[in-house]
Amino acid sequence: MNILILNGSPKKKSSTSRLLGKMAGLLLAGCKVQYASLRTKNEYPAILQHLKDIDALVLAAPLYVDGIPSHVLEFLQQAEDFCIKNNCHFSVYAISNNGFIEGIHNKSHLRMYECWCRRTGLTWGGGVGIGGGEMFHCLAVYYPIAFAVLIAINLIKYITGTAVTISDWLPLAENIGIYLFFNCGVFYCMARLSASVRKCRQTKNRYTRVMVPAFLFIPMADIFMTLSALFNGKFIFALLKKDNNPHHKIE
Ligand SMILES: Cc1cc2nc3c(=O)[nH]c(=O)nc-3n(C[C@H](O)[C@H](O)[C@H](O)COP(=O)(O)O)c2cc1C
Repeated sequence: MNILILNGSPKKKSSTSRLLGKMAGLLLAGCKVQYASLRTKNEYPAILQHLKDIDALVLAAPLYVDGIPSHVLEFLQQAEDFCIKNNCHFSVYAISNNGFIEGIHNKSHLRMYECWCRRTGLTWGGGVGIGGGEMFHCLAVYYPIAFAVLIAINLIKYITGTAVTISDWLPLAENIGIYLFFNCGVFYCMARLSASVRKCRQTKNRYTRVMVPAFLFIPMADIFMTLSALFNGKFIFALLKKDNNPHHKIE
């Protein structure tokens, strides 16, 4: 079983699609899995060559404006010609994640891949739509650190001769429980999708989300987006700086 997992996110780091692709790869242990990214156009020819030999393609891509990101669309246009010319026969699965909390927003995105399969003569295998993609990524960064800190605290206690009781492990158990609860929908849908990929079987599209109610998600997302805009973009004083670029002058 030869599987190609494609990361359709343009992000260099902190990509949820990449994380979901890796997760699918783990769940497909035992199969021959290869990874590739659609970040730069010069990678496309090598990826296209892979399409000749694969049994399944798993495309993990973010939702952009309720649809396919433009660079993924460009790749699909090239892949369509390539697959028709080379008579490719593989099944296509998609993992779409979006910023809003409701996974159902990904419906049209998954449908677009299904239409592309029909046009290209490939088999549509099914997909997963995941809401709260950014949050899923944040939880995957925060919780392993929290687990490590809680384990380290107990280890230090043990090494320094302080008795470590069952109640000392409770915070760790609690945190593992919370993490599993938040992600139970994603884990379930990803496991079902991977089981289908393994057998090259068709499955229905499933929609899930990070299990946080919308009234909590919205203020948290607002704070997160404001902070990431400040840290990843330009601080307000940089925006207010005089623009010395001659091309930006209004005559
Ligand atoms: C140009 C652009 C358009 C987007 N459009 C939507 C959208 O229509 N609906 C939505 O829920 N999220 C939208 N998002 C948010 C992304 O889907 C979200 O941040 C996702 O988790 C990014 O995944 P990635 O880390 O794999 O790139 C958009 C983001 C960008 C940059």
